[in-house]
Amino acid sequence: MSVGFVVVADEVEMDTDGMKEVFVHGHPVLLCRVGGRLYACSAECTYEDGADLIGGKLDGFHLECPEHGCLFDVRSGRVLGPPAEEPLATYELKVDGGHIWVAARPRGF
Ligand code: FES
Repeated sequence: MSVGFVVVADEVEMDTDGMKEVFVHGHPVLLCRVGGRLYACSAECTYEDGADLIGGKLDGFHLECPEHGCLFDVRSGRVLGPPAEEPLATYELKVDGGHIWVAARPRGF
């Protein structure tokens, strides 16, 4: 079943590696560009405070939460380091017509 996609940014806004926070139907989503490829995951840490991950540090595929330092893989949302135990939601995305489109719902929902 198709979930539908929404435009969240222009392609030129992510033409270098780094992060950008966008919103998909009110949910904060983090666009990450690593090695020229784009990934989209939830911008809210899954640990207790739910820190905004745009304030964190992206090192390769590893995203470190600014609050208590847990580590996620932006490709899969997998937890790589504590204290978080729940993975981040991830989203399909595509680039079309000069825009970045993100799925309206996370993978698995
Ligand atoms: S809120 Fe992310 S590790 Fe604490």
